[in-house]
Amino acid sequence: MNQARIDSNRVPRHVAIIMDGNGRWAEARGLERNAGHREGIESVREVVRAAHDLGVQTLTLYAFSIENWNRPRDEVGELMHLLEHYLEVEMEEVMENGIRVRSIGRLDRLPPSTRDAVESAIERSAGNRNMTLVFALSYGGRAEIVDAARQLMRDAEAGKIDPERLDEKTFAAYLYAPELPDPDLLIRTGNECRVSNFLLWQIAYAEIYTTSVMWPEFRKPHLVEAIADYQSRERRFGLTSAQVSDGSPSATPGRVPVTDEA
Ligand code: IPE
Ligand code: IPE
Ligand code: MG
Repeated sequence: MNQARIDSNRVPRHVAIIMDGNGRWAEARGLERNAGHREGIESVREVVRAAHDLGVQTLTLYAFSIENWNRPRDEVGELMHLLEHYLEVEMEEVMENGIRVRSIGRLDRLPPSTRDAVESAIERSAGNRNMTLVFALSYGGRAEIVDAARQLMRDAEAGKIDPERLDEKTFAAYLYAPELPDPDLLIRTGNECRVSNFLLWQIAYAEIYTTSVMWPEFRKPHLVEAIADYQSRERRFGLTSAQVSDGSPSATPGRVPVTDEA
C-alpha cells in the first residue's frame, strides 16, 4: 500500500509487533526453520526503516519470548546469533537515522556475547532522539509484572512507598521501560490471533491488527496497510462515540485513561 494513504498527523506514536511465522514461511518452501529467521531479519531491517520514514516514535519488536527458551538448542542459538549480526551490520544506519535502541526483558539469561552486543548498541545510541527501537528479548509480560511487583514490595518494606497510595501510575513506573508511551497499535503477523505474553500491561487500549502475512514477507507496504487500518478506527477508551466526537480529553490518541484515578 502507498504511503500517501496515511495521514501523517495521526501516525501511531508507538507500534509494537509480534513478528510471527518465520518457521512456517520456511517450511512451506521446503527450507529449515532457521532460513525463515534469516529472512525475517530482512523484514526487521525494512520495517525499522519504514517506521522511521513514517514518523513512528517508538517501535517495539517481540524478538524472543521467555517461552522461546524452550525451543531446540540450535534454533535458540541461531536466533541469538542473528540478533548479534543484525546489530553489528545495522548500527551504522541506526546511528545515521538517530534511532535509540532499548531492550525489555530478562537480559541476564542471554548468552554473554548477545548481551554485550545489545548493551553496547543501547549505550552507543543513548543520545539519539528520532525514534526509539525496543527489542523485547527473553521477554514475558507476566515476568515483567512479577519483576515490578518484587521491586515494589522491596520498596514498601523499606518504607519508600505506602501500599495504601499505590495506583496504576505508581505501579507502571516499576515496569521495564516506564518512560515509553503505551502501544497505540499492536501488529501480529503469521495468521495467529493471540497475545503470547507480550506487553500485557501496556496493551490495555492498543488497537490490534493481525495479518496472515508471514513475518519474512512483511515489508513497508504491509506496515502502511496496518497503519491505514488503524487510522480508520475510532478509539473510544470506554466513552461513547458522541463523547469522542465532542473532543473529550480522555479520548486523545495515545492517552490511556488511568482508571483508578477516575
Ligand atoms: C517468529 O517465528 C520468530 C520467533 C518466535 C522467535 P516463529 O519461529 O514462531 O515461526 P512459526 O510460528 O513457527 O511459523
Ligand atoms: C511469539 O511467537 C514470540 C515472538 C514473536 C518472539 P511464538 O511463535 O513464540 O508464539 P506462540 O507460541 O505461537 O504463541
Ligand atoms: Mg510462532
